[in-house]
Amino acid sequence: MDIILLGPPGAGKGTQAARLQQNRGMIQLSTGDMLREAVAKGTPVGVKAKAVMEAGELVSDAIVSALIGERLDSASDGAIFDGFPRTQHQAEALEMLLADRDRNLAHVIELVVDEEALVDRITGRFSCAQCGANYHDRFHRPKVDGTCDVCGSHEFKRRPDDNEATVRTRMAEYRAKTAPILPFYEEKGLVRRIDGMASVDDVAAAIDSILDS
Ligand code: AP5
Repeated sequence: MDIILLGPPGAGKGTQAARLQQNRGMIQLSTGDMLREAVAKGTPVGVKAKAVMEAGELVSDAIVSALIGERLDSASDGAIFDGFPRTQHQAEALEMLLADRDRNLAHVIELVVDEEALVDRITGRFSCAQCGANYHDRFHRPKVDGTCDVCGSHEFKRRPDDNEATVRTRMAEYRAKTAPILPFYEEKGLVRRIDGMASVDDVAAAIDSILDS
């Protein structure tokens, strides 16, 4: 089953995609993670993407569609598209990539959220530099300050685009370029909306009930 998780920055796409990957054997395809990996490795894609991401703007459709095309076959038992597609052009590219493989989208799950609350969510988040476990300054601190609950590492990191000014640009990009792709999927009867302001567990339960329906 291939699904899209759609929502503005901080809506919880990555949190829920990681959980689905762990519990259902689906594969999370996050263009944000792929781009951050490319930036960290200094690949040609990473060099092009770095400044664009730090400004909170969108990387070119051609680059991100190619990244998804390269990884799609590794998710043959089901992909969770996290952060892709983000433009009409990307939505059309995904249609072609799936059709070439006789695959179809099962659901487009929109996480409906309050943008102001998301600024708090995003500017407070940090993760373990070793294992990637996610934390938040106020909502989810490590049990022992300075020590990762999962792997015991003492090193943590924050994303360079998680400051308030960049978050607001990312949200404006979402409103201008990504939210307008919803009608494309509505016409196909694929959109399911859930309350992304509920607890992580309640959002997860709502997604499970859609996937099991
Ligand atoms: P990307 O990495 O995709 O970032 P994003 O869409 O801005 O989303 P985030 O990762 O910030 O949020 P999320 O919805 O995954 O929320 P999360 O689960 O982490 O993209 C980054 C950049 O890369 C873009 O700006 C762009 O430049 C580029 N890019 C990527 N894809 C692209 C594309 N397709 N085209 C062009 N450019 C592209 O949760 C956030 C926080 O909230 C966490 O602390 C979490 O613990 C907490 N949280 C989650 N759910 C809940 C809940 N229910 N209740 C309370 N707290 C919660």
